[in-house]
Amino acid sequence: MAAASETPLKLLVLAGDGIGPEVTEQALRVVDWFAPRLGRPLQIRHGLVGGAAIEACDEAVSDAVVAEAKASDAVLFGAVGGERWDARPVGRRPESGIIRLRRELDVFANLRPAIAYPELADASALRPELVDGLDIVVVRELTSGVYFGQPRGQETTATGARRAFDTQAYTDAEIARVCRAAFELARGRSGRVCSVDKANVMETGRLWRTVAAEVGAEFPDVELSHMYADNCAMQLLRRPKQFDVIVTDNLFGDILSDAAAMLTGSLGLAPSASLGRPRTDGSALGLYEPVHGSAPDIAGQGVANPLAAILSFALCLKHSFGRPDLALQLDAAVRRTLSQGFRTPDIAGPQARPIGTVAMTDAVLAALDT
Ligand code: IPM
Ligand code: MG
Repeated sequence: MAAASETPLKLLVLAGDGIGPEVTEQALRVVDWFAPRLGRPLQIRHGLVGGAAIEACDEAVSDAVVAEAKASDAVLFGAVGGERWDARPVGRRPESGIIRLRRELDVFANLRPAIAYPELADASALRPELVDGLDIVVVRELTSGVYFGQPRGQETTATGARRAFDTQAYTDAEIARVCRAAFELARGRSGRVCSVDKANVMETGRLWRTVAAEVGAEFPDVELSHMYADNCAMQLLRRPKQFDVIVTDNLFGDILSDAAAMLTGSLGLAPSASLGRPRTDGSALGLYEPVHGSAPDIAGQGVANPLAAILSFALCLKHSFGRPDLALQLDAAVRRTLSQGFRTPDIAGPQARPIGTVAMTDAVLAALDT
């Protein structure tokens, strides 16, 4: 048997649509920089997902790509979706590729950090003093809830009304495992978890709150609070620094993580890690994707911010490649790049002269080299 140090780390790259391929290509330059420093060989493969896969094989992700992803240590994901496929029904759109991957890889804990870099305090929609030093993580449940609940569909009723329905459903085990991930994360941070639900109106919210409290009892060193989702949206805008780790369901997490990311100045900076159950060596198969999506309005122009994709690889170094030290090094290089004044248009503000996707990555690589 090969020694662990010789077993290759397997990275599957799924660049997808819109700005996905542009930012992923740049993230891969950073991957190349780290490859000789990982302590293990790195094997990189590429696959199709989203609209790109629909064009090639009429499916948003093929069985073969799903199997390849399952056999990998990490998946570096770009973005999916675009106008061209907007008329397709829900289950046949590019988005169904990422939804299927999340479910099949069982990556139930989606970590979406929102960190306000002091250099970008002016880029935030909030006053600088409200976001200065902000460092929160939204832990979004990713493999259940209304994204997957059955039944769902559209019908015409006996009276001729068009009716559509989705199902929000959670089991106690599904809630418990993502809450546990949030508590474990909080332990290594400032030790506070805010569990977010709509226990005032939804049955799933009531179970969510009960199970979060049960799991909380296993973590007496972590402080647990509960909040309704609407209030959480308001509090994120009013006083975001009151939060440390927010744990919530799939739909609320989708919405609240966009809000949290924007506090930092730009969605172009927001990375994410979607993790399953840790393996015996502590590493976890992870799906790493920028939160920003395919941004068709700026695709192909070379102006997309590559930092969310690059920071997503930093999360991969930490959670799937077992190299938190290298993750810190990459984070520091991104910070240095920002403090040197390099800005893509989304974070440029009125004064700065913005640079493009490639030049921004050049600056990160230069910061790594110094
Ligand atoms: C996200 C996105 C996706 C989601 C879309 C692209 C399916 O908005 O990752 O937040 O709704 O989960
Ligand atoms: Mg979203």
